[in-house]
Amino acid sequence: MTTWTLAERAAKMNSSAIREILKLTDRPGIISMAGGLPSPKAFPLEAFTAACQAVMQRDGAAALQYSTTEGLPALRQAIADFLPWNVDPEQILITTGSQQALDLIGKVFLDKGSRMLVEKPTYLGALQAFTPMEPVAVGVDSDDEGMLIEDFAKQVGTGAGKARLAYVLPNFQNPTGRTMSDARRQALVEKARELNIPLIEDNPYGDLWYEEQPPLPLAARNPEGVIYMGSFSKVLAPGLRIGFIVAPKSVYGKLTQAKQAADLHTPSFNQRVVAEVIKDGFLDRHVPTIRAMYKVQRDAMLAALEREMSGLNVSWTRPVGGMFLWVRLPQGMDAQTLLAAAVERGMAFVPGAPFFAGDAQGNTLRLSYVTVTPEQIDKGIAALASAIRSQHAA
Ligand SMILES: Cc1ncc(COP(=O)(O)O)c(C=O)c1O
Repeated sequence: MTTWTLAERAAKMNSSAIREILKLTDRPGIISMAGGLPSPKAFPLEAFTAACQAVMQRDGAAALQYSTTEGLPALRQAIADFLPWNVDPEQILITTGSQQALDLIGKVFLDKGSRMLVEKPTYLGALQAFTPMEPVAVGVDSDDEGMLIEDFAKQVGTGAGKARLAYVLPNFQNPTGRTMSDARRQALVEKARELNIPLIEDNPYGDLWYEEQPPLPLAARNPEGVIYMGSFSKVLAPGLRIGFIVAPKSVYGKLTQAKQAADLHTPSFNQRVVAEVIKDGFLDRHVPTIRAMYKVQRDAMLAALEREMSGLNVSWTRPVGGMFLWVRLPQGMDAQTLLAAAVERGMAFVPGAPFFAGDAQGNTLRLSYVTVTPEQIDKGIAALASAIRSQHAA
């Protein structure tokens, strides 16, 4: 074996704990609530087939040519038009998925050792994206509505050790499914403004509400103090890798330079196809069908948990949108150990520990309800309850 010397940062990179788990659990016969994928039933195949043809016939050469780093003007305009605050398309940077937005933000804001704040728990993929910059990620105490303002203020730090950014997911958070209330959003925005900390608002799930639209984004409340990230992955299809950043003009140029260095631009063809699909209000017709489908599955999972978990000392969140639900096991029960017992009984979930930046709560787990049918949900939650009982007995 060659013994090449790799960069120090390479030692810190790791593959997502979830992907490792999925390798073990994505087996025939296992009811998997572990994945983070949207339902393929939600992909508008016909609309894409027509859009691909239209793009190739009308703009084929341009769709196959290099294009600008900032992104397709028609797509940036369409995004500015659907966001619920006044956004100049010049502030929108199209990214290769919102995952790339995390990478670019990390490169622009973080040095080795920089302090950054995240919710407890937070999106694992964000921790992964920021890790190569070697920051110190600090979890802020959080309740059902997200970060607690008092702890946020306490954790910000001062001087050279002051946090460079705070990363938050106000809507139907991955992994907990929780949503920040209107009052908490306002309080966080005001505190961040007072302390001069940029808020990174990640919102891939915001359109997937079931009963009512969530409160206004943080960025709408203070556009100069927030970098907002959006994505077409959950409302159209993730394989296109189309996401975007809305950034204050003060950092827009740096983010664009970081993107130019990373990949020059997001594929021209994909951008044109998305712009073609969403013109004429397609999302207004399509997204309600996804909401309706996921709501049925959310309801089935809540009903199954109510039925199966009684007396087991287990609690869970009641998401009002998105794809995930978070379960808290009895104190001292380890979700990683429980996973083996659950897989033996034919179901899989993701243990919660990897979603924490610091001290992990090992008695938590994430369930996704969007790629399983109500019948599979009933069977899977019954299997989970049986696995939990086996741990109680052990
Ligand atoms: C909270 C959050 N942010 C960002 C992403 C990345 O999404 P994409 O790169 O597909 O836009 C995901 C994907 O699951 C996510 O859950």
